[in-house]
Amino acid sequence: MLPYMPFVNEYWPFIVTGIICYLGARFLYHSAVSWNPEKYKNRKNYRTPDEVAEIDADEFEDDVGQLDMSSALPWDLEHVSLDFNRLPVDETIRRSQEFYTFMNQRRTVRFFSRDPVPADVIRNIIRAAGTAPSGAHTEPWTYVVVSDPEVKRQVRDIVEKEEEINYTKRMGPQWTTDLKPLRTNWIKEYLTDAPYLILVFKQLYSFKEDGTKRIHYYSEMSISLACGILLAAVHYAGLVSLTSTPLNCGPALRSLLGRPTSEKLILLLPVGYPSPDATVPDLKRKPLEEILVEI
Ligand SMILES: Cc1cc2nc3c(=O)[nH]c(=O)nc-3n(C[C@H](O)[C@H](O)[C@H](O)COP(=O)(O)O)c2cc1C
Repeated sequence: MLPYMPFVNEYWPFIVTGIICYLGARFLYHSAVSWNPEKYKNRKNYRTPDEVAEIDADEFEDDVGQLDMSSALPWDLEHVSLDFNRLPVDETIRRSQEFYTFMNQRRTVRFFSRDPVPADVIRNIIRAAGTAPSGAHTEPWTYVVVSDPEVKRQVRDIVEKEEEINYTKRMGPQWTTDLKPLRTNWIKEYLTDAPYLILVFKQLYSFKEDGTKRIHYYSEMSISLACGILLAAVHYAGLVSLTSTPLNCGPALRSLLGRPTSEKLILLLPVGYPSPDATVPDLKRKPLEEILVEI
C-alpha cells in the first residue's frame, strides 16, 4: 500500500502530464537526431566551456576537426614574440602611484563648454578603447561619435522625453531620492553643449567571412572593460566626460543613428571641456582597506 502523500494525491494529474511531456520531448528530439544526424551534428558534439577546459589540446583539435566548423580567427593564426619592456621595480612603483593619482582626479562632469575639440583626439580615444581585451578576441563594440548639432539635438530630445518619464514614473522614490545629492534631473543641456557624444554599442553577434554567425563570448564584460579604457583615455587627453546609461532610450537612439538590431546601446558619453563654472559633488572614494582583500 502507498504511503499517504497529500501533495501527490492532489496534484497527480499534473505530475503525470509533466512526466509524459518530458518523455515525449526527449523522444521527439532523439527521433529528429536519428532522422537528420547532419543537422544535429554540432549540437551533439557541443561541450560547455567547463567541459572544454577539462580536455587536453590534442583531444580538442580532434574534437573541433570533427565538427566541421570554421573558427572565428584563422585556424593557423601565427604566434609572435611578445613586445614587452620590463621596467626596473622602482619605476614600476612610481608609475603605479602616478597612475592612481591621475585616475583619482577623474570626475563625472555635468556642465560642458561648447569649445571645440579636434576630431583626431576623439579618434585616438576610440583607438585606445579598441585595445580592450575581449572574449576570444571578438571585439564586440561599435562607437558612434556624434558632433552634428542637429543630431545632438535629436539625441537630447529622445533622452529628455524618456528621462522625464524615468524620473517621474519608472525609477521610483528610492532611486530618485538616492540621486538627489547629485542634483541630476531630466534636463540634459550637456547633450547639446558637449562637442561630442560617444555612443557605445555592444554587438550581440557578428558574422564570419564565410557568412556564419560569430558568437560574442562574454560581450558584456568585454564592452565594460572597453568603456573603462574609454573613460581613462578621455581623462588622459585632458577632457571630461559624463558616464550615462539613459534608461529606455536604447532602441530609439539605435534607430536614430542607423545601427542594426544586433547592437545594443550600452553607454552615452558626452565628451569635451568642462564649462568654466562647472561644479561636481564633493564625493569621497572608498579607502583601500574597504575595497581590497589580500590573502
Ligand atoms: C553605469 C553608470 C551610469 C551612470 N548614469 C549616470 C546618469 O545617467 N547621469 C549622471 O549624471 N551620472 C551618471 N553616472 C555617473 C555617476 O553618478 C558617477 O560616476 C558617480 O556619482 C561617481 O562620481 P565620479 O564619476 O565623479 O567619481 C553613471 C555612472 C555609471 C557607472
